[in-house]
Amino acid sequence: MAPSGSPSRIVVLVSGSGTNLQALLDAIAEAGEEAYGARIVAVGADREGIVGLERAERAGLPTFVCRVRDHGSREEWDRALAEAVAAHQPDLVVSAGFMKIVGREFLARFGGAFVNTHPALLPSFPGAHGVRDALAYGAKVTGCTVHFVDDGVDTGPIIAQGVVEIVEEDTEEGAAALHERIKEVERRLLVEVVGRLCRDGYRIEGRKVLVP
Ligand code: GAR
Repeated sequence: MAPSGSPSRIVVLVSGSGTNLQALLDAIAEAGEEAYGARIVAVGADREGIVGLERAERAGLPTFVCRVRDHGSREEWDRALAEAVAAHQPDLVVSAGFMKIVGREFLARFGGAFVNTHPALLPSFPGAHGVRDALAYGAKVTGCTVHFVDDGVDTGPIIAQGVVEIVEEDTEEGAAALHERIKEVERRLLVEVVGRLCRDGYRIEGRKVLVP
């Protein structure tokens, strides 16, 4: 991770409300960058006008927006996103509700240092509708998964998971309430995982993530 002793530099990518970003900001503010082991150096998004960007601005952080529609192709967007992130020289990139699949160029630069959080127990229910899909399937438990990103959709090596029970009151129409319960667990897990990776370092061996 970062040169020994200095806090790791993190870029966070968001697409929505940014409560996971806020949890990271709060944890770092509370512990201090040295003790937590990291500082957020920038926040990027794939769209404008989202609360996630407002949270970053309130925290005084640089932000950038990289929209697919402003680029000639998906590959060009991917390259532009990789460059925007690289400009902040991150040790770790965190996708916290970033609703885009990155491409080859981004992974060539940040693969092995790109963490995503997903609202289901992978490998079950990957993709953009993890909460709804678990409900529709009739699963009795679901949860969240923090994992490294590879070139599949939510298929990379798993770092940690949190379990949330699905109760009878959880209907498909009420997916938002279940998602909120998942996010309570998810925020704590993400804060814990990112801090550990930054403080202790890690190795990825095949599908196993080893944190000393
Ligand atoms: C989180 O639950 C995250 O797992 C999910 O979006 C939410 C973002 O919440 N991500 C995905 O579904 C990615 N496939 P937040 O904006 O409040 O942090």
